[in-house]
Amino acid sequence: MKQALSFLKAGNLKPEKGFCQVHWEDEPKECYVYLHNGEKHCSRCYTKALNKRSHDEWLQFRKADLHYAAHLPKRYEGQRFMATSDDQKAVRMTVKAFVDAVGQKDGWCALILYGGVGTGKTLMASELAEAVIDKFDLSVRYCTAKQMIAEIQASYSTEGKSEEGEILRFVQYGLLILDEIDIKSDSKNAALLLQEVINRRYNEEKPVVVITNQTFDNLSQHVGDRIDSRLHENAFVAAFTWEDFRKNQSSN
Ligand SMILES: Nc1ncnc2c1ncn2[C@@H]1O[C@H](COP(=O)(O)OP(=O)(O)OP(=O)(O)O)[C@@H](O)[C@H]1O
Ligand SMILES: [Mg+2]
Ligand SMILES: [Zn+2]
Repeated sequence: MKQALSFLKAGNLKPEKGFCQVHWEDEPKECYVYLHNGEKHCSRCYTKALNKRSHDEWLQFRKADLHYAAHLPKRYEGQRFMATSDDQKAVRMTVKAFVDAVGQKDGWCALILYGGVGTGKTLMASELAEAVIDKFDLSVRYCTAKQMIAEIQASYSTEGKSEEGEILRFVQYGLLILDEIDIKSDSKNAALLLQEVINRRYNEEKPVVVITNQTFDNLSQHVGDRIDSRLHENAFVAAFTWEDFRKNQSSN
């Protein structure tokens, strides 16, 4: 890629008669060649480099779009989850295994990040979202469960939007990350919407990440049996067992 780009940037593409360094064996005849760093390249090389550049530019734009559409919290942008203890290293390994499973697209899987406040769950989720976008070019959406429900419910009073359309949107993301999934919903409708999105993603074999302050064993009391059961199938479970980072930061 670098070679192709530097070829285009050269600015000294003066054609002259000669043999192309790359294609002379296929076409052992003299043609117009472009001189670049003392090498001779034919118009086929030049077109290839041009196509590659436009593809690379397109990929760059697409990745920027995917990062923007993921709605990752700004405060964690470019931040890395530091894994120093064995427990933190184990979390990192679990998350890596999940990311690999997402890349292989081999069916439903769920990552559960659970633990106390300030232990780095949202940070870890943001980092993994960036990896999924960069490595696999997949669409990702991060939001709290409450936020997702509010977005779907906003369709009830917005012309041109429908509940079905909004649910579909949350089903179609390559990866959905739902933070604070245990927050008690204030209405039956909210609980049903959460259940509907998880169930449809499960049926479509689209992975989810859920984040909670509850233990995995306790989750059913907060999200109901139907969601809890699905989250237990092909589950990658990461327990954040250490102290609140926010408190550690302020005492240092
Ligand atoms: N492993 C880590 N390495 C570096 N910084 C960390 C780590 N864990 C947490 N932090 C920092 O601590 C703060 C809290 O992290 P974060 O918001 O991800 O916690 P959380 O588990 O999502 O908390 P809550 O349950 O309250 O939402 C952030 O500023 C984050 O950058
Ligand atoms: Mg958080
Ligand atoms: Zn050539």
